[in-house]
Formats: sequence, C-alpha cells, structure tokens
Amino acid sequence: MNADKDRYAGMIYRRCGKSGLKLPLISLGLWHNFGGVDDFQKSRSIVLEAFNSGVCHFDLANNYGPPPGSAEENFGRILKTDLKQYRDEMIISTKAGYQMWDGPYGEWGSRKYLLASLDQSLKRMSIEYVDIFYSHRFDPDTPLEETMGALDSAVKQGKALYAGISNYPASVTRKAAELLREMGTPCLIHQPKYSMFDRWVEKDLLNALEKEGIGCIAFSPLAQGLLTDRYLNGIPADSRAALPHGFLKKEQITQEVLEKIIKLNETAKNRGQSLAQMAIAWLLKDHRVTSVLVGASSVNQLRDNLDSLKNLAFGKEEIDKIEEILNEK
Ligand SMILES: NC(=O)c1ccc[n+]([C@@H]2O[C@H](COP(=O)([O-])OP(=O)(O)OC[C@H]3O[C@@H](n4cnc5c(N)ncnc54)[C@H](OP(=O)(O)O)[C@@H]3O)[C@@H](O)[C@H]2O)c1
Repeated sequence: MNADKDRYAGMIYRRCGKSGLKLPLISLGLWHNFGGVDDFQKSRSIVLEAFNSGVCHFDLANNYGPPPGSAEENFGRILKTDLKQYRDEMIISTKAGYQMWDGPYGEWGSRKYLLASLDQSLKRMSIEYVDIFYSHRFDPDTPLEETMGALDSAVKQGKALYAGISNYPASVTRKAAELLREMGTPCLIHQPKYSMFDRWVEKDLLNALEKEGIGCIAFSPLAQGLLTDRYLNGIPADSRAALPHGFLKKEQITQEVLEKIIKLNETAKNRGQSLAQMAIAWLLKDHRVTSVLVGASSVNQLRDNLDSLKNLAFGKEEIDKIEEILNEK
C-alpha cells in the first residue's frame, strides 16, 4: 500500500511523559474486532484507515483475539502485505500478564512467562522488535524486581525499545518506576482503564505518573462502547454487548447507566459532537494523558473518533454539567 502522503496533517502528537517519544492523541487498540473470529478485510481496512490518518500507534497483547494470539497474527499479516515499508513510522506495543498458555508459566509476572511470551508475540507478528513491551498486570506473588527485570532484559536484548506497565496501582507504579530507573530502562508509559465512567486514576495514579515522568495511555475510553450512541435504542445485534466473546455484558447496561448516556449525549450534541467524540476530548483535556486508546468495529467509528480532535476545548459550564450527570445517583 502507498500510504496517504498527508497522513500526519490532521493528527496531534503529545510527548509521552519525559521521554523522547511522542504518541498520537488517538491510538488504536486491537483487543476486539481484529481476531480470528472477525472479518479480516474489515479489520485490515480499520488498521489502514488509522495509519492513513496519522494514528501510528497500534496496541496489542499476547491474548487478543479470540482465539488468543490471533490479533497479533492478523496484525502481522497486515504489516507484511500493506505496511512493511512503514515499520519505522509505527509504534507497536504488546503485553504479557493474563492467561495465555497452560501450566504455571502461562500468565502473571515471572521472568519465564514474560520473556517466552514476548518471543511468541514477535513470531506471530513476524517482527524483530516491538516498540513497547508491557507487564499487563501487577503480580502480587512475584517479586517486582523479577517482573521489572524481565522488562529491562527485553529492552537490553533489543526485543523491545521501551518498557511499560498496565493496570498497576499507584503505589506499585512508584516502586516499579524506581526499579526500572535503577536498571537503566526508564518506565515509558502506564496503560490504565480511564473513562468518564471509570475514574480510579484521578485519585493518585495521574499525579504519580507526572511526578515520575511516565506517560499515560487511557484504555477503554468509551467504556467499551457505552459512552457512544451505540446503546441509545437497545442492544444492536453486531455490538460488543451482543457478541458471545464480547467483554461488555448486557447486564452492565442498566437503566441508571442508560439515563446518564442519554444526558451525556445531549451535552455532546450541544457541543456539536457525538458522545464518543466528547468522551475522548474529555480525557485529552488533561495534559497528563498522552494518548487515548480507542477500539473500533468499523472505519466509520474510527473516523467519528478522529473527529474529536476538531473540538478539544471545554468551557467551565460544560465540565460542570458533565460532572453533574456523572455524579447523579
Ligand atoms: N491494558 C489492559 O488491560 C487493556 C484492557 C482493555 C483494553 N485495552 C486496550 O484498549 C483498547 C481499547 O479498548 P476498548 O475497545 O474497550 O475501547 P473503547 O474505545 O472504550 O470501546 C471500543 C468499542 O466502542 C464502540 N465504538 C467505538 N467508537 C465508536 C463510535 N464512534 N460510535 C459508536 N460506537 C463506537 C465499538 O463497539 P462495537 O464493537 O459494539 O461497535 C468499539 O468496539 C483495546 O483494543 C486494547 O488495546 C487494554
């Protein structure tokens, strides 16, 4: 493929913590919609649309699919057929932490699991290195020194350029940052869940990240599709909540949640945005958030999300209105 020559014109890039790396304000995650169960050509068109729009960061994990591993395989296929010549323009991340294979070495945070998993990921994607390798979750039963040591080794072996952590609480994040710094491999980035509906990071994680000079990439910024117009009129048959392998469950779409969505949708309309666009812009108003990691099941959804960049500013009244809706019991 010959990529669009204006692909960087519409995107904004923000520095990741105190590192040398900049990330696009919107990155694409391949958790859902890119697995073996999905329509490959559709997945491919979303990845290519993203790259052609300046979304140069693609986020994967060993277990993305289903079946586990298939998202990396599909992404590797797209890289090979369409994007190979652009590898140096791309930030590709993967992770290890959740259940991937049988036995005691197929999950959590041991050196054995992390480094074996990274080798498998590189093979599935047919690449020599990833840009970011993450510990996907904190393992309370493995010494933190061991897990961070595995990330450090991955970087020193040239199999990853940067180290990251995901889902780590603030206190462990500080300790992890210190350990990695001592090893000479600073922690580049933290990947937490963060959206209007899940604000745990605001308590102390975001401050810890800023202090440590670590970037933040917010995952599930649309609360898996709840913070969009997807569920305003019931549960569409092709939506994540309707799919047997979808992580969003129908039971999560309660009357209380729906009422908030309806009101937030009105607030977004008054800003001239879709709810998805407002939910993304709302996260990006905080300079500590480096990038917002969206998912998409169609090219149109991705385009809709990219258009959030046209209006990132919020007035005080809008912020107050959103707070009021989110705090309603
Ligand atoms: N580190 C971790 O532990 C972790 C965990 C989860 C996710 N992640 C990362 O974060 C990425 C994003 O997570 P996510 O997929 O849950 O993110 P999300 O952006 O909150 O949800 C994406 C879903 O929202 C719907 N959607 C997206 N744009 C829309 C639009 N403009 N209008 C209407 N609906 C829209 C689609 O649902 P439908 O499919 O129903 O159309 C889409 O699949 C993942 O791919 C992964 O890379 C990381």
